[in-house]
Amino acid sequence: MIHPLERALLLGSALLVLAAPTALRAQECLDCHGEPGSSVSFKSGENRDVTVDRKAWEASVHGSMGVACTDCHTEIKEYPHPEVTDKTARDLTLRFYTSCQQCHEDQFKKTLDSVHQRALAAGNKKAAVCADCHHPHTQKKITDDKGLQREGKLDQTSAATKKTIDKVAGKIKKTVNPKH
Ligand code: HEC
Ligand code: HEC
Ligand code: HEC
Ligand code: HEC
Repeated sequence: MIHPLERALLLGSALLVLAAPTALRAQECLDCHGEPGSSVSFKSGENRDVTVDRKAWEASVHGSMGVACTDCHTEIKEYPHPEVTDKTARDLTLRFYTSCQQCHEDQFKKTLDSVHQRALAAGNKKAAVCADCHHPHTQKKITDDKGLQREGKLDQTSAATKKTIDKVAGKIKKTVNPKH
């Protein structure tokens, strides 16, 4: 019979494994996905390579901020993975892209009334989704600290100047980022 204390310790170490740092959890996935040569096949006859470029991942905004693979691929707990039922490679993209919503709610809401989303809702599977423009495995940081520095400096600026800056900033945001 296992002593209750021993059992508690065993349970404790199991919890430790589950609570392992996110980098380590990505490491487990990368043990396989970091090596080229595997692919997933679809009913349509298409194949898609499942290699994740380890260096690009580590340099990406998600990899460097400690986001775990399983934050987005929530259904994957072990190998073999759950069976892939997507008919086409595009269906796989459309299955995963909604994961952005949990952390980027603002952008997600904004895209809901964009031209892309309306096209998607109308059944056009080619309509651009988040992952088409920002591949989450390789996306680098877009905004830099300059935006924050500007905020700080605004405290010492007159109300009229603030208004002008905000107007210009609004325009820039519209031009640079017309999609959401
Ligand atoms: C033992 C090797 C191995 C490990 C570990 C592994 N994978 Fe996979 N993965 C594969 C292979 C091989 C495929 C190709 C399709 C298949 O065989 O299931 C795949 C396919 C996938 C796919 C695309 C198809 C699907 O199931 O939607 C995703 C996403 C994926 N893996 C994510 C992950 C994540 C996240 C982890 C870590 C939690 C992980 N994998 C760990 C080998 C592995
Ligand atoms: C921020 C969300 C996010 C994170 C984090 C993430 N993925 Fe993905 N992953 C996606 C999306 C979205 C797709 C679909 C991309 C597409 O079809 O263009 C995808 C696709 C995949 C695929 C299918 C093949 C491919 O490249 O299209 C595999 C395999 C995969 N991811 C494994 C991983 C592994 C391993 C990690 C961690 C090292 C990881 N993902 C981290 C969102 C994420
Ligand atoms: C588990 C949380 C999480 C999920 C899910 C997630 N992200 Fe992120 N994302 C982050 C964090 C953290 C950052 C870095 C902080 C920041 O800049 O907002 C980031 C940054 C980004 C950036 C750069 C933003 C900037 O200001 O530089 C883009 C673009 C992005 N993510 C796209 C996506 C896309 C596309 C998806 C879905 C496929 C996704 N993210 C899913 C957490 C997440
Ligand atoms: C048609 C392309 C396109 C689509 C679709 C798209 N984006 Fe973007 N996104 C951009 C562009 C362009 C920028 C401006 C920065 C740049 O030049 O890369 C941007 C900027 C961002 C930023 C950083 C600036 C900010 O607004 O905070 C985040 C985060 C982001 N996108 C997330 C998302 C998410 C999440 C989705 C899906 C709901 C999405 N994007 C869909 C093209 C797109």
